[in-house]
Amino acid sequence: MTVSVGIIGARGYVGRELLRLLAGHPEVEVVYASSREWAGQALGKVYTEFAATPISDLVCEALGPEEMAARPVDVAFLGLPNGKAAPFVAAIEETSPQTCLIDLSADYRADPAWAYGLPELGRTAIVGAKRIANPGCYATAAQLAIAPLASLWQGPVTVTGLSGWSGAGTTPSRKNDPEALRDNAIPYGLVDHGHEAEIAHGAKTAVHFTPVVMPFFRGLVALVSGRIVGHADPGKLIEEAYEKEPFIRLIAAPAEPAAVAGSLRADLSLPVCAAEGDRIVLSCALDNLLKGAASQAVQNLNVSLGLPEGLGLSVPPPSG
Ligand SMILES: NC(=O)c1ccc[n+]([C@@H]2O[C@H](COP(=O)([O-])OP(=O)(O)OC[C@H]3O[C@@H](n4cnc5c(N)ncnc54)[C@H](OP(=O)(O)O)[C@@H]3O)[C@@H](O)[C@H]2O)c1
Repeated sequence: MTVSVGIIGARGYVGRELLRLLAGHPEVEVVYASSREWAGQALGKVYTEFAATPISDLVCEALGPEEMAARPVDVAFLGLPNGKAAPFVAAIEETSPQTCLIDLSADYRADPAWAYGLPELGRTAIVGAKRIANPGCYATAAQLAIAPLASLWQGPVTVTGLSGWSGAGTTPSRKNDPEALRDNAIPYGLVDHGHEAEIAHGAKTAVHFTPVVMPFFRGLVALVSGRIVGHADPGKLIEEAYEKEPFIRLIAAPAEPAAVAGSLRADLSLPVCAAEGDRIVLSCALDNLLKGAASQAVQNLNVSLGLPEGLGLSVPPPSG
């Protein structure tokens, strides 16, 4: 079985990780990589780490929606900024609806016509799906921590997300400016961040979410704090939920972003309970570009097509 794959947004941080993973996937052939800025340049030249890989000579193209749809593939990944996917989706619907679309943006995560692609919290909808919305990076970490205790939370769960600046993408802004971040941290989106509703919907509980950009490049940690009632051993529920999940590692100490940078797994700390009262705190760290985006998207490709979920996901960590 050879799965033909196309990537829109190949110049982006997520596109780069997708290319790296898919180049090493034994059942995948990457047939196009779209970037307007890099059109005409070979991937092995713009990304030197790809020089000795099967995609080295693949030349970037500037594919608009119609041009993309006229090049039917089995699976197309959309790694565009938020709000840009709709014309590409419409063109695929019109011309090659059989293509499986995996959208990395926030555009379809609340759309019931799309499968929400967080495999550890539900694979049934992803199997055979042709439209898959890949979860947000903070939202993945927070939901992995909150969901196993879903029925126990009392009142809103507070989530603070601390992320490396690659989470802000390649378009220059203060949030990805190493100078602005030197010896600094930048809180933003203090209320009503898009991931707040995404977390609340997926984890089925009210959530207050606040993100902070940190001065490191990749990795994030979500600190999850709230009150639970009705269970003497919440850690046991978490262990039972994830005992068979290869991409989740349960740890006793608080999770740290550096421990998962370049890794395909999420580290989830078992709950710490306050000495008095019913408050607990958990933490979940993952690489925002991998389990928070690209490697989760490859899990989704595999689940959708009926391949082993971990196929192509044992490649060495990135060099950069
Ligand atoms: N970064 C993360 O940690 C992360 C985690 C989870 C999800 N996501 C989501 O994944 C998506 C990609 O994120 P990213 O960080 O990789 O973004 P990025 O670094 O800003 O890359 C965006 C890509 O889209 C292309 N692009 C921009 N505007 C376009 C347009 N109008 N038409 C066609 N192509 C366009 C850009 O290439 P050209 O300009 O060369 O065409 C570039 O390849 C975003 O929706 C983001 O929210 C990101």
